[in-house]
Amino acid sequence: SAYEGKDYKYSLDVLPQEYPMFGAQDMRSPALEFEYEDGRYDMCNMRYKSHKIIQGKPDIEGLPHIYENSSGEFTTLIITVGDDISGVSVELYYSISETMPIICRHSRVLSGKTAVYLTNAARASIDFSDSDFKYMHLHGAWIREKHIETAEVKKGFQGIESRRGASSPNENPFMAIMRKDAGEDFGEVYGFSLVYSGNFKMLLEAETYGTMRFQAGVNPHNFKWKLNKGEQFITPELVMVYSENGLGEMSRTFHRLYRRNLCRGIWRDKVRPILINNWEATYFDFNEDKLINICKKASELGIELFVLDDGWFGKRNNDKSSLGDWFVNTDKLPGSLKGLSEKVDKLGMSFGLWVEPEMISEDSDLFRKHPDWALRIQGREMHEGRNQYVLDMGRDDVVAYLTDVFTAVLGSADIKYIKWDMNRNISDANSAALPPNRQGEVMHRYILGVYKLMENLVSTFPNILFEGCSGGAGRNDPGILYYMPQNWGSDNTDAVERMYIQYGAGMVYPSSTICAHVSDVPNHQVGRTTPMKLRSEVAMSAVMGYEFDLSKLTDDECYDISEQIKQYKRIRSIVCFGDLYRLINPFENRSASWMYVSEDKTKAVVFYYNKLAKPNSEIRRLKLKGLDEGKTYIVDNKEYTGRTLMNFGLYLPEYEKDFESRAWEIEEKK
Ligand code: GLA
Repeated sequence: SAYEGKDYKYSLDVLPQEYPMFGAQDMRSPALEFEYEDGRYDMCNMRYKSHKIIQGKPDIEGLPHIYENSSGEFTTLIITVGDDISGVSVELYYSISETMPIICRHSRVLSGKTAVYLTNAARASIDFSDSDFKYMHLHGAWIREKHIETAEVKKGFQGIESRRGASSPNENPFMAIMRKDAGEDFGEVYGFSLVYSGNFKMLLEAETYGTMRFQAGVNPHNFKWKLNKGEQFITPELVMVYSENGLGEMSRTFHRLYRRNLCRGIWRDKVRPILINNWEATYFDFNEDKLINICKKASELGIELFVLDDGWFGKRNNDKSSLGDWFVNTDKLPGSLKGLSEKVDKLGMSFGLWVEPEMISEDSDLFRKHPDWALRIQGREMHEGRNQYVLDMGRDDVVAYLTDVFTAVLGSADIKYIKWDMNRNISDANSAALPPNRQGEVMHRYILGVYKLMENLVSTFPNILFEGCSGGAGRNDPGILYYMPQNWGSDNTDAVERMYIQYGAGMVYPSSTICAHVSDVPNHQVGRTTPMKLRSEVAMSAVMGYEFDLSKLTDDECYDISEQIKQYKRIRSIVCFGDLYRLINPFENRSASWMYVSEDKTKAVVFYYNKLAKPNSEIRRLKLKGLDEGKTYIVDNKEYTGRTLMNFGLYLPEYEKDFESRAWEIEEKK
């Protein structure tokens, strides 16, 4: 025929490539692209050079990563590929776990014979032999984070990314590629989670000849990195999880790994204190008396930690000034942080503090002194977000300054907890410290600087519990969890909205890392009024706290809250460290439900939440999961076998009410 002699099966455009390059006739998306100093664009022909297998998992300098707890947990394959003409080579690292179906991978690009500019920073790349998949990701916005989106893989390009300077509330750096028949408990799922907090990109390319390429890494948008001779560029780590039993098993694998091999520090395995935060109680309008009144009530109710939120420093009585001036406002707090923390301590609670280190207000002494420390494009108007500018975290002098300032703040009182906020998208990404040809490095350098500052502070204050925050969950990614073992789940504290947000977050992130607060009604974000029982039972299914003026509670409300706190103290170790099983998906149903089972399957907690009631509805049963079929369990003082609970289930309330909820505590019969 006219096509005789061509066997397309052996074309580079069809064959699976481990590290695809542009220019050698693989026309699909390349893993790495660079150009020479004179602007010349070259092809790059990466060929296998060598490989070795080592015990353990090497650290990734300067970047957050999965680590080994004991030797023998991981084995690492390192493959070196190289291009003889340019001299550029790449080391590809693959670490496999001995106990979990995961592979962690990253790469090191080593410079060649001359300096080059990386324009596409060496993405992890995987070729599937067909594209018969759907994919799921966590989409959203501020106060609407991590909503589950699922779509069929279509021919051509699709994917997710952030250009916002942080991983963002809009897209989380996570994607699950699923067989079309896969669901919560069945089917093949490949989960991908990038351990990175900056601009990322995950793309899917379903190609003409039926193959499908997945890639994940630093977003090439606005990226151009000069790699001088003798230098290396290290890519963020991609965690790949395989499950043949649906999304549920994928999530449990991520949870186990992130709880024990990503989160660090003394809080990693401890249940988290129940806190009261004054943000929604007072916003900027507080003084010491007001705070102490809230704390008195909190302490009576059994709350363990008080968190002083925004507004304690400089002249910050609204969000228009003082970021950068990290000095206590003694008009509000005459005894400074030390005086306040001592009073809180006397009430039997620990003291915590809100900070936003990476930001700078135009109206601040710091900006007046160092205008060049803010990101800005010379000759152009600067853009504010929430009335603030962004510090150039890629600068060593900025990181050194912030390390000193926050070492002083954190050491100035008995501070047990820090909420580390970051409240805007990053624009104007130019640095006064870099020449024009290196401005494409600013966004990645920013996040490396953030990691450096976080590392400095978490290692100087190993006993402090750090919580990441970014206008809620705007930077809730595995990168931050390496430094801070928990994250504020969302600025949306409405119980119904939280069903979606926490259900989505649980796809990847363990509940010990997701913070949820009970707040006032009507809710400050959506105006909805829900019962206290629902609000607390939603918060109880993660790391519970409170965020409203407790000094205004009625006696009945106080009683209810003290009972909820007792209940949470009973169950929190199962909630935080048990295995998650999702039972009802709120995105597809009028209710939501999930449960946690202790590792030895002797205890479980089941949460069930109704959104709006359906009158005279069907009789519904909730089939549990993850229990031991053969064990006998006690639920509501009755005995059931695990088999019955999982196959027949528990009856749900016959007459549904709006916002009804239940939390069942289940224990094996002794
Ligand atoms: C962000 C946080 C809130 C609160 C405010 C303070 O929005 O997510 O919880 O701390 O900042 O300004």
